[in-house]
Amino acid sequence: MMRLSLRFVIPLALTIGAIAYGVVPLVDKLTLAWSVRDLDMRSKLVASAAQEPLVELLTDKARDRVRLQRVQAFFARMLRDDRLFALGFCDATGTLVYKTHAFPATVACPKPDLPAADAGTVLKLPGGPLHLVASPIEADGERLGEMLIAHDMSYVERRSADTKKYIVWLFAALGAVIALITVVIAELSFRGWMAGIKALIRGQSLALSPQPQARELGPIARDLEALVKDLETERRMRDEAQVSWGPDALRAILREDLKGDEVLIVSNREPYVHVRRNDRVEVQRPASGLVTALEPVMRACSGTWIAHGSGNADRDVVDDHDHVMVPPENPAYRMRRVWLTKEEEAGYYYGFSNEGLWPLCHIAHTRPIFRAPDWEQYRAVNRRFAQAVEREAKTDNPVVLVQDYHFALLPRMIRDRLPNATIITFWHIPWPNPEAFGVCPWREQLLDGMLGSSILGFHTQFHCNNFFDTVDRYLEARVDRETFTISYGNDPTEVHRYPISIEWPPVTLANQKPVPECRADIRSALGVAADVRLGIGVDRLDYTKGILERFAAVERLLELQPEWIGRFCFVQIAAPSRSSIEEYQSLDARVRSLAQRINTRFGRPGCDPIVLKIEHHDADQVYAYYRAADLCCVSSLHDGMNLVAKEFVAARDDERGALVLSQFTGAARELAEALIVNPYDIEQCAAALHVALTMPPDEQRERMRRMRGLVQEFNVYRWAGRMLLDAARVRQRRRMYSAARGTPKVVGLRRG
Ligand code: G6P
Repeated sequence: MMRLSLRFVIPLALTIGAIAYGVVPLVDKLTLAWSVRDLDMRSKLVASAAQEPLVELLTDKARDRVRLQRVQAFFARMLRDDRLFALGFCDATGTLVYKTHAFPATVACPKPDLPAADAGTVLKLPGGPLHLVASPIEADGERLGEMLIAHDMSYVERRSADTKKYIVWLFAALGAVIALITVVIAELSFRGWMAGIKALIRGQSLALSPQPQARELGPIARDLEALVKDLETERRMRDEAQVSWGPDALRAILREDLKGDEVLIVSNREPYVHVRRNDRVEVQRPASGLVTALEPVMRACSGTWIAHGSGNADRDVVDDHDHVMVPPENPAYRMRRVWLTKEEEAGYYYGFSNEGLWPLCHIAHTRPIFRAPDWEQYRAVNRRFAQAVEREAKTDNPVVLVQDYHFALLPRMIRDRLPNATIITFWHIPWPNPEAFGVCPWREQLLDGMLGSSILGFHTQFHCNNFFDTVDRYLEARVDRETFTISYGNDPTEVHRYPISIEWPPVTLANQKPVPECRADIRSALGVAADVRLGIGVDRLDYTKGILERFAAVERLLELQPEWIGRFCFVQIAAPSRSSIEEYQSLDARVRSLAQRINTRFGRPGCDPIVLKIEHHDADQVYAYYRAADLCCVSSLHDGMNLVAKEFVAARDDERGALVLSQFTGAARELAEALIVNPYDIEQCAAALHVALTMPPDEQRERMRRMRGLVQEFNVYRWAGRMLLDAARVRQRRRMYSAARGTPKVVGLRRG
């Protein structure tokens, strides 16, 4: 209020000051000058009009008395003009010989020898100011004398007073208007600037600032934004590093940063599959990196996980709303199952997702297949899941975590139904370059769908960059690589790198026997001697995993280093996957036949070089293999992250064992102490296997310790925590944004 009144009073006071000390004297001066100039001209006119008759009267031979009367009468006639105050005539000797009766007595004739003055003089007399001009009267070149013309100037004062009055009013009004405008502009721009600065501090771009005035800050915006972002990142990293990342940290974020807002996860693969076997319902944990990572997160967060109910006993265990609480032994969150028909599953899951997008995004030299009917099913199923999200949401602004390539269209569909939702989409597989992605006939629709997300996550910066390039190439969108934001339509999408990980410590580890026992048990189960060295590979039976290349490397090792024949056994656990797809069936056949060929060539009694286990293994069994092995080989041809590498490291609390890791996995960017290989280079991989088998224990310990430290520090709780913290930031910004626009968002319960 105070500020406001000052803004009003100061300009007004300045205006009044200017009037008093500048304008009024100036008006006086100007009015006087104009009037004098005006009267000079009038006097000249009067003089020239009087010249001839006066000369006639003055040169008349009449007697002096008659002449006096005539001149007086002439002057009296002339005085009918209101402005003329008095007239007089001075003869050539400088004597005032004729004058009208009002002629001031104090006015004397000018000296006769002085040249005639051009302009009149102003006389300040007690009765008021007079303008006096002495105009020469000549006859035939002889100077007869001077006619004195006196004009009344009191009207000048009146006029000046009037003008001053009007000017004072005009300026006062002007001052008030200026003061008012100043107040309004100052207020608006103050708000604009403040909003701009606040927007910058919040990390919001000025373009998004609700106050258009804030754009005045344009020139400093970039620097300020960069500075604020640096500080934010630094603070985030410091805060992040200080947090001990576990379920409690996640719960704290949900409670404090997300204020208890509801969390929904959507994925195709469900975390628990109910299957009927011999009239009994069993619960299976699927072989899926996505599930491995998200399940512990969900246990910590509660909420609802929406997924395709794919188990043959799934329907038997759900309630009327298709809900079932999981994990079965210790229920912590709710699963909502979505049922798909055979046709939907064929088109959406096997077809578009796994014959189209999967090979499209992985550079494994398997051609993607795109069929229009598959695309239609993909769209329809994405719509079905959007409906499920809408139904499951209890509020209008849930946090929805959309998982993977099965749901590229889902973010936009959710955004249309729940505009206030915070949608985080995580793409678990690689994102290809624009050329590779460009072969998809529905590339624009896919990108548009994904950009319905508030935040879009990839494992590596490389994949984020590929995504930026792809959007840049195919959409009319603004891609800002400095703020990692894509603006396309209304809401911006932030694109960030969130390298996924595993829980730490893994719950499965708690059930494990000591390493020597695992070694002994597994060797005895395999029927190999106690001193046989063991390698392990754990994958889904998928062509991107490089299983054939891995076997070829084992074969080459045995060719190059025959001392390992009969002394090295590589166990390949391959979970059957997507087996309705021809490419997977053919891979299955090729893997089996290659293993057989190598075993025929190098098998020795009690030791086949390759033990192939194409069947489902639960986590406990897999961990026992990890602990029993001397080395683990991950030779993916292309992989978003690959959590097997991290699991192997996590399983080795004895700090032993060596990891051979493909350079084409996201994990290779983090686990630098692994033996990094190019899986296409069979010689190199064979050499790496040999190095792993002969690595001194100290070196194993050193490498393993570092890798374990990294996985421990960057575990899956941190992965999820970073995304949820970003979601909280986005939500906070959105709230402030809508408050600034004056459209308070109604956040309320939609259903009971
Ligand atoms: C990859 C995908 C996951 C998928 C998993 C298993 O990790 O990123 O989304 O769940 O493979 O594949 P499946 O087709 O059996 O779900």
